[in-house]
Amino acid sequence: MRLENKSVLITGAGSGQGRAAAKLFAQEGAKIVVFDRDKTGAEETVAQILTNQGKAQLAIGDVSKAADVQSAIELAKEAHGGLDVLYNNAAIWSAGNIDNYVTELDEDGWDAVITVNLKGLYLCCKYGIPALIESGGGSVINVASVAGLKGSRNRSHAYSASKGGVISLTRSMAIAYAKDGVRVNVICPGGVDTPMLQPMVNTPDRFDKFAKAHPLGRMGEPEDIAKTALFLASDDSAWITGVTIPVDGGISAS
Ligand SMILES: NC(=O)c1ccc[n+]([C@@H]2O[C@H](COP(=O)([O-])OP(=O)(O)OC[C@H]3O[C@@H](n4cnc5c(N)ncnc54)[C@H](O)[C@@H]3O)[C@@H](O)[C@H]2O)c1
Repeated sequence: MRLENKSVLITGAGSGQGRAAAKLFAQEGAKIVVFDRDKTGAEETVAQILTNQGKAQLAIGDVSKAADVQSAIELAKEAHGGLDVLYNNAAIWSAGNIDNYVTELDEDGWDAVITVNLKGLYLCCKYGIPALIESGGGSVINVASVAGLKGSRNRSHAYSASKGGVISLTRSMAIAYAKDGVRVNVICPGGVDTPMLQPMVNTPDRFDKFAKAHPLGRMGEPEDIAKTALFLASDDSAWITGVTIPVDGGISAS
């Protein structure tokens, strides 16, 4: 098992990629804190892990609220004896239906996306990295997007900006905390078939077109991302920090 007895906190683990990673990591022997603001989704992830004889605890909360983040980290420490892996996966695409050019985006829409995607990740690192250090070092896995690597004409500009910020922050944190044995890396998914993508691929034709835009000819599955995250969580990546890994069917190469 590649994560035997490791304590892992995954944000946004009540759906999509976060749930897939929580289940895969648990199969590999990790003890998971499933942190999500969606109680139903988070409970379902915990139930699926427990059914398979895995170990999981539930933390309901919002990554953009410091007190919720601190409680989730305390839960990992108390229930699982420390924290070894912090997987910052939670994000939103937009607030409501305003997901277009910057000139059409109102301030509330901008703030909502930046608050969850960037401030939320900052808070998880602010309170999570000291816990990783207390445990003797560890791995931070951030999730950005191809949208943070390349310009988007009519996609959510606040989302792209938030993900660009996550990539940049990853590099700085990798340099700053390398001396403490904390590695920090970022995954940039392409289109992955999860609830987040649904509004953009809401007809079979749109789904097919977007899938084919990926050179490998299909949409990503949540497990495609989880397998890369497993590598970054495990000692197999012990000499890797500060890198940006597109997991995107080749779309960022074009
Ligand atoms: N699906 C894609 O095509 C795609 C592409 C590139 C990047 N991503 C990124 O992958 C990550 C996972 O997304 P997904 O596709 O699994 O989406 P998803 O919508 O299925 O899952 C996101 C989860 O995050 C949770 N969440 C949202 N805001 C939160 C908050 N403030 N506090 C706590 N939890 C919160 C949601 O409740 C949900 O369970 C995100 O960072 C997303 O930006 C997704």
